[in-house]
Amino acid sequence: MLWGSCTYEHFSSIPSQCASTSIALTLTAGNVSTCGAADGSLAVTPAGGKRPYVFSINGGNFLTDSSYQGLKAGSYTVIARDANGCMGTQIGVINNGQSPLHVSIAATPNTGCPTPNGTLTATVTGQQDPVRYQLNAGTLQTSNVFTALAGGHYTITAVDATGCPTTATATVTSNSASFKTDVSPVIASYCGNCHAGNRSPNLTTYTEISAAGNAVVGAINSNMPPGTKLTATQIALITCWVNDGAPNN
Ligand code: HEC
Repeated sequence: MLWGSCTYEHFSSIPSQCASTSIALTLTAGNVSTCGAADGSLAVTPAGGKRPYVFSINGGNFLTDSSYQGLKAGSYTVIARDANGCMGTQIGVINNGQSPLHVSIAATPNTGCPTPNGTLTATVTGQQDPVRYQLNAGTLQTSNVFTALAGGHYTITAVDATGCPTTATATVTSNSASFKTDVSPVIASYCGNCHAGNRSPNLTTYTEISAAGNAVVGAINSNMPPGTKLTATQIALITCWVNDGAPNN
């Protein structure tokens, strides 16, 4: 699962068994009856983890309730945590079922490192002009295009002359660094002497390097290799690759 602001630090407190656990959330939304009403709902169905689950909505406390009532229109981030402490996340959207305003989003992937270059373009139908657009919790703007985006899940909210917002979600995929050309040769030249089976972590194969991804990013930003430092570009590319999910590309 990709995150908009995903850096390796966010994963450091997640138990290691979660590397092989993928928790998928299905969110079923009930729209609000009219613009401004607080009668929407979200029901969460988790899969892939170990029961029992607890759930958090928009950063609130983890509770056993898996359905939420009395919600206003907007987007909600739901996190499920399973019995092992592994987590899954999904964004749910509640709109006004009566409103004719509809938003669709086209995405282009992020291929830039360290400066991301993903884009999202919103298209509306059923609107009363003028329309303004908001990315996540950002400010409303007149342009329907958002640029310089890293990989992750995003919401775009459109507000037209009626003042009634409509939200849609989109994912920017990220493929901003290559294991074969940006990561593997650097690890081989600068780490291989000392991490080729003789010392943990072993950094010889793709499987080992990707499994140690977060530790590698931590190490190259602090004390590895000993007595010297990789260049800023090398550090950025390895970090981008890990943030992209350490693909074998
Ligand atoms: C000259 C030998 C040497 C080289 C070269 C070297 N390391 Fe290490 N590495 C060590 C030693 C010794 C340790 C264990 C002691 C320590 O953490 O200082 C270690 C520990 C680590 C750890 C574990 C740190 C932790 O806190 O658990 C990681 C990750 C790591 N190295 C990554 C790398 C990476 C990535 C490179 C290349 C960019 C690299 N190392 C290059 C000797 C080396």
